[in-house]
Amino acid sequence: MTDLVVRRLLIDLDTPFPARWNGGDAFRSAFFNALSQSFPSGEQYFIDAVRDGLKALPEAKRASLSAEVHGFIGQEATHRRIHALFNANLERLGFDNAIERWTEDRRKEHRGDDLRNKVAATAATEHFTAIFADWVLRHPEALAGAEPRLRTLWQWHCAEESEHRNTAFDMYQALGGNQVWRIKVFKYVSSVFLYDVLRQTLRNLWHDKALLRWSTWRSGWKLWFAKDGMVRSNYPLWKAYMAADFHPSQQPAALSQSWLRDNADRYTVVGRAA
Ligand SMILES: [Fe+2]
Ligand SMILES: [Fe+2]
Repeated sequence: MTDLVVRRLLIDLDTPFPARWNGGDAFRSAFFNALSQSFPSGEQYFIDAVRDGLKALPEAKRASLSAEVHGFIGQEATHRRIHALFNANLERLGFDNAIERWTEDRRKEHRGDDLRNKVAATAATEHFTAIFADWVLRHPEALAGAEPRLRTLWQWHCAEESEHRNTAFDMYQALGGNQVWRIKVFKYVSSVFLYDVLRQTLRNLWHDKALLRWSTWRSGWKLWFAKDGMVRSNYPLWKAYMAADFHPSQQPAALSQSWLRDNADRYTVVGRAA
């Protein structure tokens, strides 16, 4: 079990920031913006799935997972609040949040699905965020030149995603979810999530008048496909999810706790799982 702490981030999100807040780099900004645009609705879905999962568990299992689930919910609720503020700034800059509409439409189609599949979709997406989070913490150049308050926002979110990477997966197992559906849902989530993030990134670049520039795609290639880039270097970690004996705790996450320790002055602890 993980002792999950809820933290309030001490940063200013009232002061506006420019579209290319990430070091003036159009691609890196558009991509991180697309992720942020997906978060408030996605994180609400995760909260609902694990909360419903907890209610569905028999008493003994519920007691053993309760504290961790409440910590998870507290962390995701804080993330969605902060990213809603971040996204409000993007909206003022004229960026259209289409990814939220796409994902909500898709969720309506899957409203009647078995609860275990909703938890499986949460665990699958959390695998993506955990891989992304650890990679960002290991590669500060992904946020090179970003305003310090925004770099702090992303690194804090990454540290907590790494920290709570086990929760949805453990809930899926506690609910008796099987391997076949875990992997089937993971493949589905992988394709739609990447497709949606890509489409939203392209829309953001179009709005920023940067879609058809060489410099944009040079940066995109470097971020995703360089030797140690996000896509290329994380492929083995992504694939590991399909192993029968996979558990998220097997994945690297060492930088999460050191970031939280070294940056304790950037947040206050508002809740601790009891
Ligand atoms: Fe989150
Ligand atoms: Fe998460």
